[in-house]
Parts: sequence; C-alpha cells; structure tokens
Amino acid sequence: MPTPSNPLKAVRGTRDLLPPETALWNRVESIARSVFSRYGFGEIRTPIFEDTSLFARGVGEETDIVSKEMYTWEDRERFNEKSLIDAWLEGMGNTVAPIDRDVSIAGKRFDLIVRYISGEIEIIEFKHKREASLTVHVNQLKQLISDYAIASGTMAEIVGRVVFPSRKATSSKELISASPRIEVEEIVGSFFHSSQQLTLRPENTAGVVRAYIEHNLGDSGQLQKLFYIGPQFRRERPMRGRYRQFWQIGAEVLGPTTSGSESPLRDAEVLEMLATLLDELGIKGWRLELNSVGSAEDRKRYVAILRDALAPIKHQLCEDNQRRAETNPLRILDSKEPNDQALIDALPRIADYLDESSRDHFAQVCAALDACGVPYVVNPRLVRGLDYYTRTTFEFTVPSSGDSASGLGTQNALLGGGRYDGLSEMLGGPRAPGIGFAIGEDRLILTLQAQAEANKSGAPHLDSETWETKLDAYIAPLGPERNAAALALARELRRAGLTIEVGDGSFRLKKSFEAADRVARHIVILGEDELASGILTVKTFTTGEQTKITQADLAQSLRA
Ligand code: HAM
Repeated sequence: MPTPSNPLKAVRGTRDLLPPETALWNRVESIARSVFSRYGFGEIRTPIFEDTSLFARGVGEETDIVSKEMYTWEDRERFNEKSLIDAWLEGMGNTVAPIDRDVSIAGKRFDLIVRYISGEIEIIEFKHKREASLTVHVNQLKQLISDYAIASGTMAEIVGRVVFPSRKATSSKELISASPRIEVEEIVGSFFHSSQQLTLRPENTAGVVRAYIEHNLGDSGQLQKLFYIGPQFRRERPMRGRYRQFWQIGAEVLGPTTSGSESPLRDAEVLEMLATLLDELGIKGWRLELNSVGSAEDRKRYVAILRDALAPIKHQLCEDNQRRAETNPLRILDSKEPNDQALIDALPRIADYLDESSRDHFAQVCAALDACGVPYVVNPRLVRGLDYYTRTTFEFTVPSSGDSASGLGTQNALLGGGRYDGLSEMLGGPRAPGIGFAIGEDRLILTLQAQAEANKSGAPHLDSETWETKLDAYIAPLGPERNAAALALARELRRAGLTIEVGDGSFRLKKSFEAADRVARHIVILGEDELASGILTVKTFTTGEQTKITQADLAQSLRA
C-alpha cells in the first residue's frame, strides 16, 4: 500500500515530462512538422494498440522486439453472436424464414431477429449483455409484442422468444418464464470468441502499412508521404536514453510501384530531409551510416552463407551471439559485444552478395546524396533489428562513449530506418514498396540539452532561453483587496493576446518581485494609487527600468 513515505511512482522505464522541458518538446515537434510539410508529408495517427499478429508478421517473430520486448495482453472474451445464431438455426431445421437484424417495430429499435411463420411472429432476442438490463429488456419485449398485435390487427398468436447461450440462462429463466407470451430457449454451446491478443505498439511502421492497406491508400496511384509523432512501448532494460515508453517522430513514403515508390530518389530525399531536420533542430556532429541489405532473396542467400561462416566459430562468441547464430544470424552484425568484434569483422559482408539491381539501387542512392552534399559513411554491418528491411538501411548517430555532448551514453542511435519493399505483402496487402525512419524523440531532446550545456557560449540557438520563453508580465496586487482588480486586469491583457501571471495580494512586495523575475519580463504593480489614477507602475527586468503607464497604453507597451 502506498504511504506518505512510500508514495506511488511512475512505472519503471516511464517518466513524466514537465514544464519547462515540455516547451522544448513542443519546439522540436513544431520544427519537425514544419520540415515535413515542406517535403509534402501529411500526418497519420494510428492506434496505440494493435492486434499482436501485426507486429509478429511485420516486425518478425525472431526479432528482439517481438520475442521479448512487447507489452501484450489477452483482451476480454467477446460474445460471438453468429455462432449462437448458427446453432439456433441448426435446431430449427430448414423451416426458418429470412432473418432480419436490428429491427424497428412500433417505433422501437431492437437488436432482434424476427421470424415470420404463417401469420405468427416469433421475436427472438439474443440476450447476451449484462444481466442487469434484463428486466428492462423483458418489459420492452412484452410491450413490443402487444404493440405489434394492435398495430397489425392480427389475432394470431404472437410469441416473443428469448434465446440464451446457456451460460447466461440459468439466473434469467425464472424472470422470463413469468411472462406468459415470452418463452425461453436455451442453447448449449460455446458462443464466446477465444479472446484477441493485443499489443502496445513497439514501433509505428507496421501500423502505418496496415492503415495503408485497410484504407486502400494505394488506389489513388499516388505516393503516400505520411508522418507521425507519438509514444511507442518496449520492455527493454531502462537506462539513460532508453525507456519503456518512448516517443518517436517518424515518416513513411510508400505507394504502388507506378508511383515511383521504389526509386532510389525517394531514399535520398528522405535522407536529405533528415539532414535538413537535424540541422534545423541544431543537432551538431550527426553522422549518417548507410548500408544495403539487398532484396529478400539476397538476404536469404547471405544468411545461408553467414550461417556457414558462423558454424566453426560460434562457440567463441558471447552467449547472446551464440543464440543469435541460431535464431537470427544477421543480428550478430550489429552486436556491440567488445570481445566479439574481431570475429564479426571477419565475417562475409552482405555487400558482396547483392544482386545487380540492389547494387545499382544503392549506388544511385549514394550518388544522389553526393549531389545534395549530404555526408554519409557506408557501414557494411548495419543490418538493423527489424525483419521487414530490404535494400537501403540507415542510422543517424551522434558522438557517444564518454563524450558528454551526445547526452545518450551508449544509446547513440538518434534515429533509424530503411526500405521495406515487401512489408505490405507480408501483411496481406498489395505490392507497396516504401521507405521510412523513426527518430527517438527522447534521445533527440537529451542530445539537444547536452549540446546546449556543452556549448553554452558557442551555440545560442540551442540555449534554453530560446525555448523557455518568459511571460509578458506578472501582475502584483498590493493587498488582498486588490486581487479582484488584478484578475480583471489580467483578463483584459490576456484577451489582448499577452501572456500574464497574477500574483497574490498577500505576498510581500519583495516576494512578488522575486516570483515575477523568475517567470516574466515585466512586473506590473497594482496598488491603491494605481487603481485610483489608472496609471500603473511597470518594471522591465532586463533593463531595470521603472515607468508609469496608463492602463489604456499597457497592452501596447508590454508587447513592445
Ligand atoms: P528502431 O531503430 O527500432 O526503428 O527505432 C528508431 C529509433 O527509436 C531508435 O533509433 C531510437 O532513437 C528510438 N528508440 C528505440 N527504442 C527506444 C527506447 N527503448 N527508448 C528510447 N528510444 C528508443 C523503428 O522503430 C522503425 N519503425 C523505423 C522505421 C520507420 N523504419 C522504416 N520506417
């Protein structure tokens, strides 16, 4: 139980983002939105949770993310109405007339199934919701039967019949059978769906491609350029720059092949946009690492070769890499285990096993980057930890290991991405090659803060002053009797578009000055004289200047 000495805390690996830091987050996001819009991207917002199989199929069963880092749960059982109807129909033999759903009779709408048999109406209602609403339902059903009898003028026998899946029937039977014109029919069987497995999204590419397929975005024939900003969830060991709930700013470019989605131009454009975005954010010393993992066939061929090369040496690798050698040998290539580096460097390189079209595609990406003047380094070991990648893969890093300017410790990948030409088909969609990336926003912010700290004098645009904006004014009422007038003045100024804080008349003047200096550029003193004369005393903190200003000129003067 929480106690005052042991209160509840945010869950391990999650954290609260508070002002003024959130102002920096907003600033970063608004710069990202501005860059995305200049490159023709529109925003997509997909659900935070999805069917687990989306990630299993998209990201890959053998990846670390899917095999051990997902937050997955069984959703509650759901009633399967269709299976109950089927069981009931079977019991009726083939004497059943057409069935209507969601029927409106005598002005009331019910989720009913109505069966007409030679002038006799049977109303069959499937009761499967909460038992608590049963009395109401039975009364409505009785009313419905009598309304219908009157409206139709029929003297025929009308029977309302309630069919239960047996597990709900027992407690309700009595109530229903007390109503003469309603019969109860119990059907034995299993009418509850085995529950659905859901997962908090560990990444957003699979969700975006699912949405692309679901909404037939490819039918327009146009290239889809979509960006997103939102939380993702992975159960990783928390450390600086690594959280269990973290934010990504990402974008995806995909479409039918005829839209040019496969073109190396798209890869280069995405990378050039990222370089522009990082520059506009003021990130210093970023480094673009680039590789090609080839087509799905290239990868298959290369993995076989890698397995052969690993067979005689794998016992010398660390435990983790020995496991990867069995499950997902590609992952060994981006292992950071220091003792394994020499062995890994000597393994065959994927670049030597690419077919001609993949090689040509990669060469064109590099040439376009050269033409734009975007610097990059080819890193033949960059394969990335998600299964959907084909051809171009990349990461942007900032200097790490002991260099405090990254702020990330060992988590030096600021963002990662690549091409995924087969993902849509893996998810049951049409062919829709694509490329995208996701920036770790938490890491981006840490880097900005660390770089601002390290370059206090040299990089004014990174200085917190630019994102921790001060309010226009702080109104200091002198004495509690002036509080109401202070609030009224604040209302007037705020409605004129100024940012205002109001103090409290019980504060001593010294305390008001200190509070005002922390949050605002000016302090406005509101005492008895000021109220009587309509002339206010305003002090500007940066200059120390104190002036008298009429209330009519105040907004204008504070704005200046
Ligand atoms: P990813 O490399 O798994 O790729 O993640 C992208 C970025 O998210 C990483 O570079 C890192 O900055 C950040 N990140 C990942 N895990 C954490 C964590 N636990 N805490 C903080 N930051 C983290 C993807 O997610 C792909 N969906 C990217 C992509 C988009 N590929 C194609 N399109």
